[in-house]
Amino acid sequence: MKHEERLQERLAAYAKRGMQRSLRHRPELISFSSNDYLGLARNRELLLQLGQEKYEQMGATGSRLLSGHHPAMLELEQQLAQFHEAETALLFNTGYLGNLGLVSALLQRGDTLYYDALAHASLHDALKLAKGQAFAFAHNDLQDLERQLALAPKGLRYIWVESLYSMDGDRAPLGALADLAERYGAALLVDEAHATACFGPNGGGLVQELGLSQRIFARLHTFGKAVGSHGAVILGSSTLRQYLINFARPLIYSTAMSLPQIGHLRLVYRYLEREGARLRAELQQRLAHYLALREKLALSTILTANQGPIQAIFWPGNREVLALSEHLEGQGFDLRPIRYPTVPRGQERLRICLRADMDLGDISALLEALGAYVGR
Ligand SMILES: Cc1ncc(COP(=O)(O)O)c(C=O)c1O
Repeated sequence: MKHEERLQERLAAYAKRGMQRSLRHRPELISFSSNDYLGLARNRELLLQLGQEKYEQMGATGSRLLSGHHPAMLELEQQLAQFHEAETALLFNTGYLGNLGLVSALLQRGDTLYYDALAHASLHDALKLAKGQAFAFAHNDLQDLERQLALAPKGLRYIWVESLYSMDGDRAPLGALADLAERYGAALLVDEAHATACFGPNGGGLVQELGLSQRIFARLHTFGKAVGSHGAVILGSSTLRQYLINFARPLIYSTAMSLPQIGHLRLVYRYLEREGARLRAELQQRLAHYLALREKLALSTILTANQGPIQAIFWPGNREVLALSEHLEGQGFDLRPIRYPTVPRGQERLRICLRADMDLGDISALLEALGAYVGR
């Protein structure tokens, strides 16, 4: 019983502080919380195509280093390297595991990694596995980063940033970061989880949009967001790929992706080549509608105006943000509260995710409901 009691105590303490989490499936609500920015997870054409594919195998049957490797994986990696203008590509089962594998394998004793203060939890967990040391710099603050780089110890230096921040929806100053990295001999690692398929000439991401592909040591793209699927890829040199095959523990000690999953990703990337520009234009239209209404309803003090799919309503306090989320749920909207400790105290917010397949009327209805809540 002692063990059960421990769990109950910790859960009760979490609940008391308004931090309890739960699993919910509420398809009857209008969703503003999905990362499916281009609507590809439910795309009929892709689902139909997937149903027509014939697979002789489901599970990979092992790690890629054992029985789990398959030529279809190499074909997908070649397709991804070409699409993202990279020398090589290496698949990971999720973006979380990609960060874990990359950072824990690179950061050796004596090395230092500098990461943006808003880094995703997967980076924090990766650092627990890594042997080197790591320091946060203030969000998007190049001066703070440079001050720390100037004091860096002797070993190798790395800088880790997200190109589009998952919680704030703003962008990293990638060009200036690349300059700084080069000046201080640091390797730049860029997590493009939320920019994948949404930015860049063909949807390749923000690094490609800015023409920086050759100046980034490693890029992580995830497939669970705008690609509407599951999994991740790390892009970099062939030496990096070979190194990760030898040292990235999540790749070595975990079963590889299933074959239908590989097939799905091949289909989605081909679809993105054909239809990505149209979907991105549709997303832009939703964004323009949101930005115009934000002005019209005088909501600019609480709503962000990011140039991308991720917006937020800043509503400080775990209890307060939960109450706002519950109020909006009563009005038929699904917006998840992002609370401390996921974000720093005082920066609690509801994330608003815009999608290419969203009704403009739903965006209007949400902002009107918010306006009424704020004004009451
Ligand atoms: C910036 C960032 N990196 C990595 C991940 C993890 O990706 P995945 O969902 O594929 O594990 C996420 C997802 O929440 C993320 O926001």
